[in-house]
Amino acid sequence: MAKSNSKRPDRIKGKTVLLGVTGSIAAYKACDLVNLLRKKGCSVKCVMSGSAARFITPLTLETLTGRKVAEDMFRLPETSEPAHIALSEAADLILVAPATADIIGKTASGICDDILTCAVCSSKCPVIFAPAMNDLMFNNPVVQDKIAYLREKGYHFVDPVTGHLACGREGIGHLAPLDSIIERVESLL
Ligand SMILES: Cc1cc2nc3c(=O)[nH]c(=O)nc-3n(C[C@H](O)[C@H](O)[C@H](O)COP(=O)(O)O)c2cc1C
Repeated sequence: MAKSNSKRPDRIKGKTVLLGVTGSIAAYKACDLVNLLRKKGCSVKCVMSGSAARFITPLTLETLTGRKVAEDMFRLPETSEPAHIALSEAADLILVAPATADIIGKTASGICDDILTCAVCSSKCPVIFAPAMNDLMFNNPVVQDKIAYLREKGYHFVDPVTGHLACGREGIGHLAPLDSIIERVESLL
């Protein structure tokens, strides 16, 4: 953990972070992110895309957060408001980590076809994307254009780093170190 974090342990205490997990091989790292955020006193609610649930189970994130994972937009919660709006309203910050090329493209295009894209689209709080993908996908000009467009609109990015990728290649696209993601969360809260 970076030194700067330990100097301000209470900075994000009591805040609610909505953690969006998408279908990347790095999805398992969401578990560590939950633990780091909770250690700092955040309340964490997870939203998973359908693809993310192919990589890690909702049960894992439910156990780590102590809260139900939001997956199905069409299953109304017992309380009033539809979940896809209530989730973003309750959040102080939305962190999408790992963020696929797909969620980046959908957000940039205003596509809202699942609970995570709807929560991001209806949010008023800061939204951070931490992309993770193959270097060819990350360097694709369309993906780069979408990232630039989202930055311009006020979305935040924690850039991926160069490293050994799951496909066996060396290149950019490795999820940023978790402490740098947490640092960005702290600076935006
Ligand atoms: C084994 C495997 C690993 C994948 N890893 C990534 C990844 O790291 N980043 C990415 O953008 N897409 C990755 N994909 C493709 C996404 O899962 C796919 O685009 C999916 O539609 C994303 O949906 P979501 O954004 O709703 O989670 C991977 C697919 C498979 C089968």
